[in-house]
Amino acid sequence: MHKNFITTENWSKSELEDLLTVAGDLKNNPFHQNLKNKSFALLFLNPSMRTRTSFEIGIQQLGGTAVILQPGKDAWGIEFNNNVVMDGDTEEHIKEVAAVLSTYVDAIAVRAFPKFISWEDDKQDKVIQAFKKYANVPIINMETIVHPCQELALMMTVKKHLGEVKNKKFLMTWTYHPKPLNTAVANSGISISSKFGMDVTLLCPNKNYILDEKYIELARKNCQAQGATFSISHDIEQAYADADFVYAKSWGALPFYGNPEEEWKQRRKFQHFMIDEHKMAMTNNAKFSHCLPLRRNIKATDAVMDADYCVAIEEAENRLHVQKAMMLALFGEKL
Ligand code: CP
Repeated sequence: MHKNFITTENWSKSELEDLLTVAGDLKNNPFHQNLKNKSFALLFLNPSMRTRTSFEIGIQQLGGTAVILQPGKDAWGIEFNNNVVMDGDTEEHIKEVAAVLSTYVDAIAVRAFPKFISWEDDKQDKVIQAFKKYANVPIINMETIVHPCQELALMMTVKKHLGEVKNKKFLMTWTYHPKPLNTAVANSGISISSKFGMDVTLLCPNKNYILDEKYIELARKNCQAQGATFSISHDIEQAYADADFVYAKSWGALPFYGNPEEEWKQRRKFQHFMIDEHKMAMTNNAKFSHCLPLRRNIKATDAVMDADYCVAIEEAENRLHVQKAMMLALFGEKL
């Protein structure tokens, strides 16, 4: 049994498939009492609509209680560095926060986006790792440098529409956004699709937009183990050709991390990566999805978002079901 859900890397394909099966049962039959008398602290260091709502409602539907905390807003700001003189904005240290919350709740879920100053620093995922170190209850990742809950929702959606996913073409495409965003969903997109044996293509404008080597290597190894292919393309037509599932996300170029002005000089040239009907017409009648939120007519056109092949709302709904399945698994609960 797993203690935490911080990444799907240490969960086998078969364990993840079991979660998706339970999620399917929960979709048909949502209300149970398996988490009765269990309480959860949901810590949001960044905004959320889907994650916050689906966790809070999902916990209620299983008989548990959720407390939302926003450190720095309605809860004290937390210091994550050790051996520092805390004469800045933070009021308490992670050691006390994690220890105290562990006496009140049965699990702590954390959303902590990168700080976008140094990727070398952000890639260590220090906030959630500190909770893992100092808390003695399960830790759940609600998006840091990966978004494992979104991975499960994505794969539940992909399987529903493609059936057997092995060797189906999964296109993870960069799309335009005016700001350099987190790579988490893209890291997660190539991780989960490769783990399930899809033929994965990562499409991005140029080498500056290739994801961190760790996730590229993980996807390559997953594909190799599953008898699938992994490729990186900067050619829109080649990448969209015959795709069975198109998954879009915008992210910042890692070589320009912490330097949004310079990154913008690159990014503004790639507005044509926006997903439109012309690109979708090149695919094998692919479904399209995005984790949301999505700026219409910036990341994808109205026509794509309103098309029958857009399954983004279904993926968002599936967040509710997969998270409930994952929480049941962390507590060894079966339906
Ligand atoms: N996809 C997702 O995590 O949405 P929120 O940022 O609204 O939680």
